[in-house]
Amino acid sequence: MKTLLRCVDVIRRQTALEPQIALVLGSGLGGFADQINVSAVVPYDSLPDFPVSTVAGHAGRFLFGTLHDIPLVLMQGRVHYYEGYSMQQVILPIRLMRMLGAKVLFLTNAAGGINPAFHAGDLMCITGHISSFVPSPLIGKNHDSLGVRFPDMSHVYDPALCACIRDAAESLHIPLQNGVYIQTSGPNYETPEEIRMYSILGADAVGMSTACEAIAAVHAGMRVCGVSCISNLAAGISPSPLTHEEVQQTADRTAPLFRSLAEQSIIRIHKVLEN
Ligand code: HPA
Repeated sequence: MKTLLRCVDVIRRQTALEPQIALVLGSGLGGFADQINVSAVVPYDSLPDFPVSTVAGHAGRFLFGTLHDIPLVLMQGRVHYYEGYSMQQVILPIRLMRMLGAKVLFLTNAAGGINPAFHAGDLMCITGHISSFVPSPLIGKNHDSLGVRFPDMSHVYDPALCACIRDAAESLHIPLQNGVYIQTSGPNYETPEEIRMYSILGADAVGMSTACEAIAAVHAGMRVCGVSCISNLAAGISPSPLTHEEVQQTADRTAPLFRSLAEQSIIRIHKVLEN
């Protein structure tokens, strides 16, 4: 909590902007930030005791600004559990964005496609998640000022916000899959046997982030939505071995579609917040 308050203090000396919507930009999707009218840039390593991303393709900074006059905070790059940070550290940025005013968390990521109907390059609206294979970010002392000890997780991905994303995709003629995201610890990709198990459990896509951030956001009273870029077919579904380069290349290729989808979704989400 002390770290959070110190981070708020440092940021408030640089910008008074009160973000309505917070976006986490995953691998290769950071280019979305080009559309933003940026008013402040805050590198993670300029914040006290803040976790810093070590992964290629993750820039590691907050951008504050507006898109069509809607105040936003963007995370260009995130930190992951597999980098050796605790889950509490991984979700610190989410709590920080909440404390700065964000009511909505829009999560994005690159993910492996498990659902046999998916193709590399597809976009998927996240309708639910399975986080049982990684520790909860809420383990440890509960901060009652943030949220309750035992928060309900029946509706993590807000149906009204998912509808905004679907409506945006339709208006742009972008095909959009729907599905359940499963978070693994990484950093190794999965075995084909693990992917078969995740498929049986009901997962459509697999990745190494996101669900923990969604849990922390719901705990703190935010409304959550998310989009996965299916950057590759998961192990055993794809005939070839997986590489981080493939993941990044597909995410880069999909970036223009993603940019338009995120922009149009945000306009619609903002309207939902006003009602
Ligand atoms: N597995 C886990 N994480 C991922 C994958 C994958 O296949 N693709 C992108 N992130």
